[in-house]
Amino acid sequence: MRRRWEPPPHIRLALARGGAKGRGPGRPLPATLRTMPVIVIIPLAEIEADAVERLLDRAFGPDRHRRTAYRIREGTSAVPALSFAAVEDGALIGTIQCWPVRLARDDGGSDPLVMVGPIAVEPARQGEGVGQRLTRHAIRAAEESGAPPLMLIGDPEYYGRFFGFDARATALWRAPGPVEQRRLLARGTAPEGAGMLAPRIPALT
Ligand SMILES: CC(C)(COP(=O)(O)OP(=O)(O)OC[C@H]1O[C@@H](n2cnc3c(N)ncnc32)[C@H](O)[C@@H]1OP(=O)(O)O)[C@@H](O)C(=O)NCCC(=O)NCCS
Repeated sequence: MRRRWEPPPHIRLALARGGAKGRGPGRPLPATLRTMPVIVIIPLAEIEADAVERLLDRAFGPDRHRRTAYRIREGTSAVPALSFAAVEDGALIGTIQCWPVRLARDDGGSDPLVMVGPIAVEPARQGEGVGQRLTRHAIRAAEESGAPPLMLIGDPEYYGRFFGFDARATALWRAPGPVEQRRLLARGTAPEGAGMLAPRIPALT
């Protein structure tokens, strides 16, 4: 990481007061809570890009770039307002990125989509709810900003169970690489037409 992450003033104030709800300076936290590390979700843009890449290598393995997901979003940049980091005591422990993609329909139309992922949690910290926090944060940001429907390639056992993604809309979607149809998931009012997933590059679409 380029620099150690320091909480911005409003978070420092909340921490000094004993948490987001604030207990006030006169009411110190119980000793157990005072030593408890705090995980905060911040914009991914505040994290050094190399640190993100190293975390992705640890979570997915270094050959991750060959995955179909990378081809679908090739040539685009992650959407800064929808990409986040989980940071604990200055250390990066999780990331989520979202990308502008589209369904290039066989009938000639084009439907904008937001591709979610990779979602990665530091291997030693998996199973503690960090992935759920990051994903919920990104979904809420997408909903609040009126972003296009979300899609991803991932395990329905995780993304269906916690976040309502499913494969109903995607039966006729194709991808520029191998993909198991049951792992091609969407959420919200995703288009159901036949077509190819492709990057959404303004100059070309
Ligand atoms: C998948 C991943 C993002 C989940 O984040 P996490 O912080 O470890 O998971 P959470 O703590 O939020 O959720 C834990 C629960 O999800 C379940 N879960 C986690 N990954 C799962 C998967 N791939 N399929 C089904 N269930 C899964 C756990 O069994 C656990 O269930 P429980 O509460 O009943 O015990 C994380 O494990 C990771 O980085 N994995 C490696 C990279 C990867 O595969 N990313 C996803 C593809 S984009």
